[in-house]
Amino acid sequence: MDSSARSSFTSRLGFVLAAAGSAVGLGNIWRFPYLAAKYGGGIFLLVYVVLALTFGFTLMTAEIAIGRKTGLSAVKAYEVLDRRFGFVGILSSLVPMIILPYYTVISGWVAKYFFTYLTGGGQQAVAEGYFKSFISSTWSPIFWFLLCLLATFAVVMMGVEKGVEKCSKLLMPFLVVLSVVIAIFSITRPGAWEGVLYYILPDPSRFSIMTVVAAMGQMFYSMSLAMGIMITYGSYMKKDTDLAHCVGQIEIFDTGIAFLAGLIIIPAVFAFSGGDADALNAGAGLMFITLPKVFGSMSMGGIVGAVFFLLVLFAAITSTISLMEAIVSIFLDRFHVSRPQACLAVLVICLVLGLPSSLGQGSWAAITFLGMNIQDFLDFISNSVMMPIAAFCTCIFVSRGVGVSAILEEVKHSSHFHREKLFVVMIRYIAPIFIIAVLVSSVLSALNIVVI
Ligand code: TRP
Repeated sequence: MDSSARSSFTSRLGFVLAAAGSAVGLGNIWRFPYLAAKYGGGIFLLVYVVLALTFGFTLMTAEIAIGRKTGLSAVKAYEVLDRRFGFVGILSSLVPMIILPYYTVISGWVAKYFFTYLTGGGQQAVAEGYFKSFISSTWSPIFWFLLCLLATFAVVMMGVEKGVEKCSKLLMPFLVVLSVVIAIFSITRPGAWEGVLYYILPDPSRFSIMTVVAAMGQMFYSMSLAMGIMITYGSYMKKDTDLAHCVGQIEIFDTGIAFLAGLIIIPAVFAFSGGDADALNAGAGLMFITLPKVFGSMSMGGIVGAVFFLLVLFAAITSTISLMEAIVSIFLDRFHVSRPQACLAVLVICLVLGLPSSLGQGSWAAITFLGMNIQDFLDFISNSVMMPIAAFCTCIFVSRGVGVSAILEEVKHSSHFHREKLFVVMIRYIAPIFIIAVLVSSVLSALNIVVI
């Protein structure tokens, strides 16, 4: 591949916003708050921040450096640097192909909710069973899925600079403003303060080993690590861009938005339920079932709901764009096709996997794997199995394959690397051990084998 022909982000800001657009997604707004609520509030928050600043930082730096060093996406980058590790590239390239279809289905649900609130139908969403009957119906979720898929397709067709970068530059500032505004609104509701304290104050008695496991899995997912994305984006980064600085900014962005999302959701639900922490235990339904009830109880709930779901939609769409871009870039590197051809191929893959994952909520619900419906199974395989394996192999690849010094050299080419020592210790020793622990425990817990 002629790397001079490869497109690139035009500026450091462009890179940071696009990578943050990828990282900040449904994971931050939908998953983070319910995990935080489930695994101990403040203590989860603390563990998460520590993990993001150590593990997250290490893997993100390594991936961006691998991408920039080779100018290639994951599928080729590993192979070019060390033949023996070519399979890691293939493994991590498969992850976004599995995630994108079902992620777009969920983005479609968000679009539907946004539309419902926008057209003044917020009260309908409060009705018992509204969410379930919507996702289990056949045509409506498919319609919203296709809409999100086509929007993503249109942006990615336009290319890295004109599509991905422009779109992120436009949407990300909005996203920040919207989340700050709604968070302020939420914590100033009567009775919300108790929820703020539940969320912010670490209570060691609520700590368990699952807090660490859940925080770790969430952190990888949220930062879009071990999925080939950051390698692809690194390959679009100019050689003189300050890599270490960018990683710091992406971390702050991603963790900051997740924190704000918790600040929006947890205090609002607390206030609504009169301080009953059990109301937070709605798991995945927290955003689609509990929150509409909270909005329904507010005087300006219709507007707040519309703004909230717009925020989530922006977060989701910037992530689907980056997922699709990563896959397109794999096709470009591997098969030497044109961008429109690659985009079309990805569209087809998305349809083939996305439609069953939408139908799996309703008419195809009888199809299950390990007791999970199609969508949960795709999520499990990609996030709980393939992603930790790819992350583990990336650590080994850096320490045994390409060599830590080669990565350090790439980083230091453009930046002063303050956290160099931390990086070396993490990638060589600590990260691989912890990642294996996460893999084992998440597989066991999915199979309902309780060890601890
Ligand atoms: N990081 C995204 C989020 O928080 C989800 C995600 C996981 C993702 N892997 C990805 C997004 C790869 C883009 C690319 O929701």
